[in-house]
Amino acid sequence: KRSRDTREVRDYIRTIVDFPHEGILFRDVTTLFADARGFRMAVDQLLSPYAGEPIDKVVGLEARGFILGGAVAHQLSVGFVPIRKKGKLPGAVLSQAYTLEYGEAVVEIHDDALKPGDRVLIVDDLLATGGTAAAAISLCERLGAEVIGCAFVIDLPELGGRKVLEGMGHEVYALTA
Ligand code: PRP
Ligand code: ADE
Repeated sequence: KRSRDTREVRDYIRTIVDFPHEGILFRDVTTLFADARGFRMAVDQLLSPYAGEPIDKVVGLEARGFILGGAVAHQLSVGFVPIRKKGKLPGAVLSQAYTLEYGEAVVEIHDDALKPGDRVLIVDDLLATGGTAAAAISLCERLGAEVIGCAFVIDLPELGGRKVLEGMGHEVYALTA
């Protein structure tokens, strides 16, 4: 008799030491995405807290949030809206600067991508300092949308992102630390 596969989402994620800089333990989700069972588990679990909640758009954060957010949007049968690094979106944009675990950046959203009252779920692979997600929330709210949740595969609790987002009044959901 074949033994049942008991691997959890966390078991598919690997850690790369000193990427992209010395001292960073990089959580690599490509191994999760590459595995059919792992990827489906991750997408299904990201959705589960929002069952029955009306959602108008999934907003995914470049780059790994596109892979997860696209799958989540498809599963919910709603549209997908990208938030990208500066200079990548072709149309008129809103911009928001933020601080990252290892640097500074600006993210952008198309200024017609969300409309006032839209209920939005923000999806990304990982929550570290919360800078990226906080900037994403700001962009959505500047367009008048309501962020109903922020869903991540990984929360690195020691970096304090959850506290930042909860301090902004937002619920955080993460599959693993
Ligand atoms: C990573 C990750 C999140 C962000 C989290 O993306 O995918 O988007 O950092 O960090 P924070 O909570 O401290 O803001 P990264 O900036 O590496 O960009 P990439 O996915 O385009 O490589
Ligand atoms: N983004 C910010 N910190 C990260 C980490 N430790 N691993 C993967 N992505 C990240």
